[in-house]
Amino acid sequence: TPNIITVDGPSGAGKGTLSLLLADKLGWHILDSGVLYRVLGVAALKHHIALDDELKVAQLARHLDIDFKLNPSSQEVEPVLEGDNLAGLIRTDDAGQAASKVAVIPAAREALLERQREFYRLPGLVADGRDMGTVVFPDAPVKIFLTASAERRAERRYKQLKNKGVDANMRALLDSIKARDERDRTRPVAPLVPANGAFIIDSSELTITEVLTQVLEFSAK
Ligand code: CDP
Repeated sequence: TPNIITVDGPSGAGKGTLSLLLADKLGWHILDSGVLYRVLGVAALKHHIALDDELKVAQLARHLDIDFKLNPSSQEVEPVLEGDNLAGLIRTDDAGQAASKVAVIPAAREALLERQREFYRLPGLVADGRDMGTVVFPDAPVKIFLTASAERRAERRYKQLKNKGVDANMRALLDSIKARDERDRTRPVAPLVPANGAFIIDSSELTITEVLTQVLEFSAK
């Protein structure tokens, strides 16, 4: 079996931070699959393709010219679309909404499948997303489903944005999170559900360190 830990769950539950800590601790690689969907959403907007145009979005996904660049000063990996660095806009709420709209298209998801699997490298991979344990890496020996109440998740996003100096509105963030959750949970293909055998953690009342401890305990079993 491959060395893979999948980390799935809704937006703002802490998957990104948990994945970074796990990858750091184990010396493993990381796949932030949401970035691929965000880049696809942004690419559709850039090329004036309607986000619900299944044929065109799927075609775009099959030919997506995407690259990743390490920013030496921030140490962050930045996505590059057709030569344009998307670092500044990939995390915006608009990109997130566009991502979840193109993510409902089955043929677009299919087109991104191999690209995601190619991230697997020894010594191992921490894969962060919505369907890592259910669809992309079904044979992963350790699967985590990290969730939290919508209010808590909106609060966390709010603080993250404030820390970055971005103006945010709590009510708007909560509405946006709920809209995205609804779309992710009810789509026909790869809906957001815990994988069989996943360790389900509700992080509403836990610190990220407590979450990490529980996950490491679970993976050691
Ligand atoms: O960072 P955040 O959790 O808010 O979002 P993300 O992980 O960047 O994902 C953005 C959107 O992409 C999600 O709302 C999903 O609709 C979609 N997505 C997906 O369908 N499957 C994945 N494996 C990852 C993301």
